[in-house]
Amino acid sequence: MGLKLLILLALLCDFGASKENETPKFASSRKFFEKKHCGEIHPDKETACIFNYDNVLRSTIGFFPTHCSVVCADLFIGKDCDLTEEELALAFKNMKRLIGGLTISGTNYTSAKFLAGLESIDTGSEQNILFEDNSEMIEIGLTNLTSIITDGWLISSSPKMKTLNLPNLKYTTPAESEYTHVELWIEKMEPNFCITFDEMEQFLNIRKADLTNIAANYCEPTPEDDICTKPAKGCTRILGDVEIGPDSDLNAMKSVEAIFGTLTIKNTSIESLNFLESLKYVAPLGTGSGFKRFPALHGKKAVIIMNNPYLSNYTFPSLKKIRSEALHQIVFEHNRYMTPEQCIRMEDSLYMSRGPTVDGNTCVLLKVQSLKIVEQSQMIFLVASIVICLMLLLGIGTGIFARWCIRNDNEYQQFDKY
Ligand SMILES: *[C@@H]1O[C@H](CO)[C@@H](O)[C@H](O)[C@H]1NC(C)=O
Ligand SMILES: *[C@@H]1O[C@H](CO)[C@@H](O)[C@H](O)[C@H]1NC(C)=O
Ligand SMILES: *[C@@H]1O[C@H](CO)[C@@H](O)[C@H](O)[C@H]1NC(C)=O
Ligand SMILES: *[C@@H]1O[C@H](CO)[C@@H](O)[C@H](O)[C@H]1NC(C)=O
Repeated sequence: MGLKLLILLALLCDFGASKENETPKFASSRKFFEKKHCGEIHPDKETACIFNYDNVLRSTIGFFPTHCSVVCADLFIGKDCDLTEEELALAFKNMKRLIGGLTISGTNYTSAKFLAGLESIDTGSEQNILFEDNSEMIEIGLTNLTSIITDGWLISSSPKMKTLNLPNLKYTTPAESEYTHVELWIEKMEPNFCITFDEMEQFLNIRKADLTNIAANYCEPTPEDDICTKPAKGCTRILGDVEIGPDSDLNAMKSVEAIFGTLTIKNTSIESLNFLESLKYVAPLGTGSGFKRFPALHGKKAVIIMNNPYLSNYTFPSLKKIRSEALHQIVFEHNRYMTPEQCIRMEDSLYMSRGPTVDGNTCVLLKVQSLKIVEQSQMIFLVASIVICLMLLLGIGTGIFARWCIRNDNEYQQFDKY
């Protein structure tokens, strides 16, 4: 503790000496900025310019490196920000890459379009992307944003927000190497906020995005959404829960690419999932309704496959990603035996943060159990071998004893003769 404080003080003094306008918060980001070549020529062959201030304000915006396209800064735009959206847009007009965190909190801005030129945001593991308590914000509007490197993006408590408007977001990478996913966390929004089907498909296409914590509903379907409410020949998108039972027409599922609801396959005699040949996404929304902070504990499963006694091929031909608010989003119960390898293959191919469960077990538990079964059978074999050996020995022993007895008997008999 003392050492940490000393190092922090040393850092602060160092800053005080070298660059007088830097703040403690900037000091904590300094290591990250150094790693990212801030203040030097960035690998993109452009200078990564630095903005040294915690707060974006009228008094600090003059120091913003407006001419730079790569900017290192922990941008905090808060309730004290006394600049108009136009002034912010002017300051940020050339910035394409932000290296550092981004917070927009407690403002009256109607969108973040003043950052619309941004193409990527790369935060350290210390920072996040945070949009919260923006009472007038109608949309995010980062229309050129393509990639984010961060551990999470929280969008919360914006009562007027209708839509996100992040049409180009395609790539996410966790900042911390031990994380596998980037969480897109949307919570405490009013009912006028909704997710469009195109938008959800766009997010489902982001391999490393964790979409568990989206507390919102789908927008009312429009004719352009081209969506069915139950399976029928030719439908590619279905809004609502789909249940496949013993009497279902499997052919109606062949064209379905996305189910914006849950999928249940129950009591059928199917042997494989080949009839879901086009299915890429299963994504119910709003199943954890009424729950704000930890919907994951209450939501419905996205996919339930149970009581299919002939099902042995568990490969979904085209499935890319599923999401729901449930802890485990896909469950298998009372089907034929699924091998741990099949389970793990599914977990990997769907790139899930928490994989499937099979009769209540995760893939890892299945693996452990199968090892135990092997161990048990080895044990049984060992015990059986010992028993057989003992019996053999016993058998041989009695044989010898018997023969000895017989011989003695004979000898006695011979003696008897005399
Ligand atoms: C936002 O607007 C409200 C009402 O007009 C006002 O009271 C508040 O100070 C404004 N907040 C900011 C950060 O400008
Ligand atoms: C967004 O990107 C497009 C294409 O590169 C560009 O023409 C446009 O000016 C950018 N938008 C902003 C606000 O910079
Ligand atoms: C499905 O199987 C369960 C358990 O075997 C049974 O209780 C249920 O009645 C079946 N439902 C249908 C529709 O066959
Ligand atoms: C299982 O189904 C998948 C996808 O439909 C198929 O490619 C694969 O060949 C099947 N495997 C077996 C062993 O039949």
